[in-house]
Amino acid sequence: MKMQRMLPPTAAQVPPIALWQGICRLFDGKHVVERFQSEIVSEFGARRSYLLSSGKAALTVILSALARTSTRRKVVIPAYTCFSVPSAIVKAGLEVSLCDINPATLDFDHTLLEQTIDDQTLCVLPTHLFGMPAAVDTVMSICKPRGIAVVEDAAQSMGARSNGKWSGSVGDVGFFSLGRGKNLSCGHGAVILANSPDAATILDGEYGKLAEESWFDAARSIMELAGTNVFIRPPLYWLPAGLPFLGLGETRFYTDFSVRRMTDVLASTLVGWRQRLERLTQARREQAVGLIRQIRDTAPEVTVLSAEDAAYLRLPILVRDRRVKERLIAQSSERGLGISGCYPAAIHQIPQLQGLIGNGRYPGADEVVNRLVTLPTHGFVRPGDQIRICELLRGLHAHEPIGVGMEMSSPSPIYQTSRGPRT
Ligand SMILES: Cc1ncc(COP(=O)(O)O)c(C=O)c1O
Repeated sequence: MKMQRMLPPTAAQVPPIALWQGICRLFDGKHVVERFQSEIVSEFGARRSYLLSSGKAALTVILSALARTSTRRKVVIPAYTCFSVPSAIVKAGLEVSLCDINPATLDFDHTLLEQTIDDQTLCVLPTHLFGMPAAVDTVMSICKPRGIAVVEDAAQSMGARSNGKWSGSVGDVGFFSLGRGKNLSCGHGAVILANSPDAATILDGEYGKLAEESWFDAARSIMELAGTNVFIRPPLYWLPAGLPFLGLGETRFYTDFSVRRMTDVLASTLVGWRQRLERLTQARREQAVGLIRQIRDTAPEVTVLSAEDAAYLRLPILVRDRRVKERLIAQSSERGLGISGCYPAAIHQIPQLQGLIGNGRYPGADEVVNRLVTLPTHGFVRPGDQIRICELLRGLHAHEPIGVGMEMSSPSPIYQTSRGPRT
C-alpha cells in the first residue's frame, strides 16, 4: 500500500446537504421515493419510473416482467459489457445470447445483431458504455417489426443524449444505475424508465410485489455513502484502494444480490439531483474535451473513442495491444493516475457461463479486452493530472515491438480491474 495522492477511475461526490437529508429521513422519511419518481418522469418524458436497490436488481425486474408476457427466453447483450448484466439475466431465469461489438463505437455490430436475433429473442439491450450513446434507434428499427422488446442499458449514461433524446428514454424500457461512481450516485440504487405503455403496465405489477430495503439497510447505506464521500478524495483514496476486502474495482458474475425497492431514506440523498447531474456531467465533458485535445496533439497512436453529447463517465481509448495496455496500467497505478483496464474479459470468457452460451467467436469484444483502457474524467482530475496522463500516453508506444503480447491470459472467476468504484 503506497501512501500517495491517487485518483479513482470514476467518482461522483454527494453534497453534505444531501447526506444530512438522508440522516434526517432515517426518522421521518415519507413519500420521497414517489416525489423523485415523478420528477424523473417529467424530466425524461417516461410513462412511469421506479426506484430499485441496484442496476442489477432493476434489470432483473425488467426481464422478469417481460418474461411473464412471452414464451421467448433469449436476451441479447453486447459481448463486452459489465458482468452484472449476464448476472441479472441468469437470476431472471433467462438465456444469455451474445452479439459482437464494433471496437470503434463499443456498440453492437448491427449487421451481426440482425443475424443474432431469432423467434426466441425476448429482448435486446443496447448499452451506453462509459456514457457513450449507443444507436438505440437502429436497434428499435431492427427489433420492433419482429416483436422484440428493446431495453436500454443506460447504467453508465444518465445525462447523455443522442439525437436530442435522453439516453434511457428511447427503448421500451431503460435503466440508470445510481451506484458508486456512476453519473449520479446515492451509493447504490437504480432508476427504471418505462417508456412504452405496455412496459408501464407489466412493470407496475412486478414492482408492486417487491419489498423495500429495511431501516437497518438504509442506515448502513447512509454510513457507507458518508465513508465513500470522504475516501473517494485523491489524498485519501490510496487507503480503500489498498484494502482488498473492500472489492474496489472488482467485477464479478454473481446472482445472490437482493432485488428490493429503494427506501425513502436513500432517495432523500438525491435532493437537487437535476442540478447535481447537470453539474457533474458538464464537468466530465470538460475534462474529456481537454484530454481528447491533448491526446490528439501529443499521442496520435492512441485511438480516442468520443461521441457528441456523450456523458463521459470515463474516457475510453484504445492502445495498440495487450502488452502496451498492461504497461500503461502498471505505470498509472505507480503514479496514482486513475487509468483503468475496465472489464478484463469478454462475457463469453466468464467461467460460470461456460456451457450456457455456446462457442461463438467475438473478435470485436476480444480486441476491446486487449486494447481498451479508460481515463478518469471526474471533478478531482486537475490540469496537472491531465498533463501527466498525456505524458504517459505519449511515451507509450515508443520502442515497443508490434504484435507481442496479444494473447489472452486465462480468466479467473473474480476479475480485478484497476481499483475503483464498479461501473
Ligand atoms: C453497463 C452496466 N449495466 C448494469 C450495471 C449494474 O448496475 P449496478 O452496479 O447498480 O448493479 C452496471 C454497473 O456497473 C453497468 O456498468
